[in-house]
Amino acid sequence: MSGQPPTYPPAIDPIGPDGLHRLYGPEWEADPMAVFEKLRAEYGALAPVLLPGDVHAWLVLGHRENGLVAGNASVFSRDPRNWKAMKDGLITHDHPLAPVTRWQRLLVFVDGLEHRWMRDAVIESLKKFEQRGVRRLVVQHTDEAIDELVAGVGHGEPRADLVGLANRVSLKVVLSLFGMDDYFDALSADMHEMISGGTGAAAAGARVTATFQDVVEQRKQSPGHDLPSILLAHGMDDEVVRETLRVITAAANEPTAQLMLETFAYYLGDPKSLRELRGASTTVAAAVARVLWDRPPMITNIGRWATGTTKLAGRRIEEGDMLLLGIGAANHDPAARATGDDLQNNRASLAFSHGPHACPGETMGRGIVETFLDRLMYRLPSVRLAAKPEELPRKATLMIWQFLEMPFTWDRDGALVVLRKREADGLVAGERIRVPSPTTAKSAIPEVRIS
Ligand code: HEM
Repeated sequence: MSGQPPTYPPAIDPIGPDGLHRLYGPEWEADPMAVFEKLRAEYGALAPVLLPGDVHAWLVLGHRENGLVAGNASVFSRDPRNWKAMKDGLITHDHPLAPVTRWQRLLVFVDGLEHRWMRDAVIESLKKFEQRGVRRLVVQHTDEAIDELVAGVGHGEPRADLVGLANRVSLKVVLSLFGMDDYFDALSADMHEMISGGTGAAAAGARVTATFQDVVEQRKQSPGHDLPSILLAHGMDDEVVRETLRVITAAANEPTAQLMLETFAYYLGDPKSLRELRGASTTVAAAVARVLWDRPPMITNIGRWATGTTKLAGRRIEEGDMLLLGIGAANHDPAARATGDDLQNNRASLAFSHGPHACPGETMGRGIVETFLDRLMYRLPSVRLAAKPEELPRKATLMIWQFLEMPFTWDRDGALVVLRKREADGLVAGERIRVPSPTTAKSAIPEVRIS
């Protein structure tokens, strides 16, 4: 013991210079949806806010206003070179917003014809996998993960963490699309470290770049049925393909895992919803649609930049101002819900945004999440949340209200094990057995089904 009093990081006041709300610090991290409602009550559809580093931005809270901003690229550009703060040198290399706003020639940072050309290549390549291809990959990676879980449980109530499982399956599926299955271990560690803000972040970022570059080189030599090969065939140069792979990995992986988690917490944490799901009164697809309205995986999205002076929600926007799409706020805008709460068949949720940059991975993302949850409930029919949904530890970053942990459990007797190897216990490939509990193991008779 040194005898020194402990030191704590300085508390961050939720209100910063000019009396503006900060979208960072403890208040935001604890409950960003509550901050949205506070801001809506104070400002209406559009609020001036402070981002990390106390950089000024407009947070768009209204559903209609978010649609207007996301849908008008000539007035609200996706190109951060329009940003006054960037031109004024406020966004230095080590600024927390630099990684998501430093311009590169990439589909997320360009508008108009160039954007169309890049986006067409991405859409064309995703379409090749959207139907059966992705489903097969999700089943394969979910099964692998569950096989490991089931094999690894000891005595006592089985328990595992869905945060790790969802992230693993989501990243594995994306890497499989790239033909990069072998890179999972290296990339999952490096991608996590790259955004950690820690001392190893820059080195991890360089390793991620080198890995994607490696893949591009390989696909140039021998093209395959994978995303990088299709992008190269579209005429994109090496650097653009490499960076597009990096962007798609980030754009696809985290929101998809988050949607798996939100849906699980929402439906499997509530006995009534769980009964509906296990019975026939709702489907996983309907559950996901509901969650996309109530708990969109991305609560905000950076960003749009005003190309000239304009007006929005009665306020004057100056040329070069940044606007942050407030997706979580828009989906709860009372004006958008005026017709009631029957939202499952209503596609106007802004979870995937709107306009020319709207998510091109929507169909695939929904498919991945639905297949994952279907498979999880098929393999572990008694699966349930092992905590109250409202007590799950969470922490919001600027764009995602992350879960830090999501413990779940299941009845050992009910687990369905898929044996893929003919050699395993002399059973046939694809045969399924119900896992017996240690006490009934001797007498248990396998329930057999051949796929
Ligand atoms: C299921 C969860 C997902 C959610 C909630 C989601 C949401 C979003 C949102 C809000 C945007 C920003 C759009 C804008 O700037 O207006 C976006 C962009 C994007 N997303 Fe997704 N996404 C998901 C899954 C995926 C998947 C699976 C892929 C691809 C495999 C993908 C690829 C992309 C790409 C490439 C962009 C940039 C599009 C552009 O700028 O033109 N996303 N996504």
